[in-house]
Amino acid sequence: MFAHNFQVKTPLLDAIKGYVEDDHAAFYTPGHKQGRGVSQKMRDLLGSQVFKADLTELANLDNLAAPEGVIKEAQVLAAAAFGASESWFLVNGSTAGIIAAILATCGDGEKIILPRNVHKSAISGLILAGAIPVFVQPEYDRILGIAHSITPEGVAHALQEHPDAKAVMMVYPTYYGVCGDVEAIANLAHQYNIPLLVDEAHGPHFSFHPDLPPAALTKDADLTVQSIHKVLSSLTQASILHVQGERIDRDRITKSLQLLQSSSPSYLLLSSLDAARQQMAVSGKELMTHTLQLADLARKEISKIPQLSVLELNPSAGFVNLDRTRLTVTVSQLGLTGFASEDLLAQQGVIAEFSSEKHLTFIITLGNTQADIEKLVQSFQKLAQEHLREKSLANFSKSMYSTRLYFDKKTPKLSPRQAFFAATETLPIKRAVARICAEIICPYPPGIPVLMPGEVITPDALEYLLNMQAIGSEITGCADATLKTLKVVKDE
Ligand SMILES: Cc1ncc(COP(=O)(O)O)c(C=O)c1O
Repeated sequence: MFAHNFQVKTPLLDAIKGYVEDDHAAFYTPGHKQGRGVSQKMRDLLGSQVFKADLTELANLDNLAAPEGVIKEAQVLAAAAFGASESWFLVNGSTAGIIAAILATCGDGEKIILPRNVHKSAISGLILAGAIPVFVQPEYDRILGIAHSITPEGVAHALQEHPDAKAVMMVYPTYYGVCGDVEAIANLAHQYNIPLLVDEAHGPHFSFHPDLPPAALTKDADLTVQSIHKVLSSLTQASILHVQGERIDRDRITKSLQLLQSSSPSYLLLSSLDAARQQMAVSGKELMTHTLQLADLARKEISKIPQLSVLELNPSAGFVNLDRTRLTVTVSQLGLTGFASEDLLAQQGVIAEFSSEKHLTFIITLGNTQADIEKLVQSFQKLAQEHLREKSLANFSKSMYSTRLYFDKKTPKLSPRQAFFAATETLPIKRAVARICAEIICPYPPGIPVLMPGEVITPDALEYLLNMQAIGSEITGCADATLKTLKVVKDE
């Protein structure tokens, strides 16, 4: 996929190094002037070197909105390393890339097929574009309480009913590392001559090891967005959007990103993408071999602990592959929720990525060590010893039933954009039933909206939200996070 000799280059990092090492009087932004003006408290915490590299679009540092120099060079290297024809660096996370993907493919009133358990950034994209969502229900494992991928069958059905859709979007892998059939879904989209857009936020490492699931681009996706910061080594917010083939209008991607991204992009973020790409292009296979070994060790040892189980590949139409570096441990047999276990593990110095009602999910990456895995296993052993199944199973099974994942199957009454801009009123939650929701309401984690602007508020949705809140999930996206009131579209 790439040639090592040119992949050792780091054009963007090198350009920054020049400024870091050069002694000059700075009369440009940022105001801290390479750290000289930074608060002492900040300097004590972070040291001074990092601020020297916190630069702006200076001579020889190129321009993210219209790159022609070192940013362009770094993006070309990234495209080659990740198997794309063209790549765009993102400084506002995959969020910006997902919104740009929607803006570049769907106009006002045009349809896009996407999973109901899509990340909230896609809902933001719908609002900004004015696009109409055609939701496909993901496969849902009722026993585990985990939503997987959308299936080829679901997408085929949506395409038959909406042959005028302008794009299909899928999440690959899910937050749990579950991969759907990206190849079959790409083929279906292409039969209608529309692109497959992939939210691959959690899969940028896939390109670098044959034992990981295949990268979406190798299975004919037209566009993918990857959070390099989530599983590789770039700084938080640094992501990449990749494109291949002719179905995506590249000028529209550039124009959309110009709308969305800062005119003062952080060069710490940009150069961290250059460095992370070089690291993976040169040593990715070795690093991923080690990461997979650590993940396999954790899976093996935790599976041995009575009452705990680890999410393993269990093939179905919405679960054709699993990223083994994503570890989901079911704790419900201990009589604990994932939320409670998360707190107990944190007391032992182990911090999970997120918890859900029955599970805890851990991201294992090139940054983890053998010592981390040992600590994780030991903490689970201790947790299991201290919380025997009998202790609180009765309480738990009640909550298991009541927080069944809720997805509404009805088409929204208004488009997300119409609802977002409509006149609204705030009502006590009970009086909001049957009204049109005016905000995104999203338990976090896992960041899957339960209600979104334009949808009719049903008693089921409210019950699910209240139950999630009761067991410790934070409700985000709505003005009143306590859920006492909800914003609804005003009746005419
Ligand atoms: C599935 C998925 N897509 C997109 C995003 C947004 O990515 P970012 O945080 O890089 O903006 C996230 C973030 O958690 C995510 O989980």
